Amino acid sequence: METRIDKIKAQALQELDTAAGADDITALAVKYLGRKGVITQFLRNISTLPPLERPLAGKSANEVKQLLEDRFEAARARLLEEAAASAETVDVSLPGRPVAFGSLHPITQVTEEICDIFTRMGFDVVEGPEVETDRYNFEMLNIPKNHPARDMQDTFYVSDNVVLRTHTSPTQPRVMEQQRPPVRMIAPGKVYRCDSDLTHTPMFHQVEGLLVDKGVSFGDLKGTLTAFVHQMFDTETSVRFRPSFFPFTEPSAEVDIRCVICRGTGCRVCSQTGWLEILGSGMVHPAVLENVAYDTAEYTGFAFGMGVERIAMLKYRIDDIRKYFDNDLRFLRQF
Ligand code: PHE
Repeated sequence: METRIDKIKAQALQELDTAAGADDITALAVKYLGRKGVITQFLRNISTLPPLERPLAGKSANEVKQLLEDRFEAARARLLEEAAASAETVDVSLPGRPVAFGSLHPITQVTEEICDIFTRMGFDVVEGPEVETDRYNFEMLNIPKNHPARDMQDTFYVSDNVVLRTHTSPTQPRVMEQQRPPVRMIAPGKVYRCDSDLTHTPMFHQVEGLLVDKGVSFGDLKGTLTAFVHQMFDTETSVRFRPSFFPFTEPSAEVDIRCVICRGTGCRVCSQTGWLEILGSGMVHPAVLENVAYDTAEYTGFAFGMGVERIAMLKYRIDDIRKYFDNDLRFLRQF
């Protein structure tokens, strides 16, 4: 009887050798190990053998059963591995799948351009918090509580003494508190005002600038900002300094550029004036310098603040500020 089980084993292994796929292996498992399989039948018939032969026949049959189970399982695992490996191979004849590249948002691009121009002039780039205390956003900048100048900016209050900063100017006292003059810094970042129309969004971006040193004059302010405009737009773009008011600068000036659309003849964009306002500026108010314990007899400075969206609108001739924030790829891909 031992020869019979040996034959079964040899036969099964030979059939497994020629098995081509998973279906063949499953069929073999049924044929040999299934409920009506060859080995199962063999084990069932052991009781018909002479008593002396039964133990050895049972032992051999069970060994063969175990061996076949292991071999079938190994064969299945190998097939799976081969399938996974061939799925990973690259078909070099297929056309490539295009990768969608991202790009910088136009506001980020213009912010970087502004920063580049000023860093070339020796300004350091700093950043301040967007959630700001009333103290830095207003009081250190010579805007006390209940001062009418607070109405100039529609403030989002977080609590009585905490606001979403309405401008990047709080970076001025923050930097000056940390260092002695000379100070030469610009501060880009987000600011917030409760305002929304064609040219205003509740969140927008500004770049602040501050220079404090011995003997800084209004002429330095004019020269620096004129150089900025000529690099940001072009050297044909003339600049105008118009008297204005900010509590933290004295004197103050609004800076206008010749209309980039009509070049000064008057159009809808410049409301027929030929000029476009692009930033606020002025000589740092002595009260602001005193708040950070700078000696006003020794030091003077100038400051400016510009809206990035406004500059980007003029540069790219965009008539609705909200386009920058709609996330329409057809718009954004043009930059
Ligand atoms: N902070 C002012 C604003 O947001 C701009 C400004 C900055 C004016 C610095 C003068 C000096 O309107």
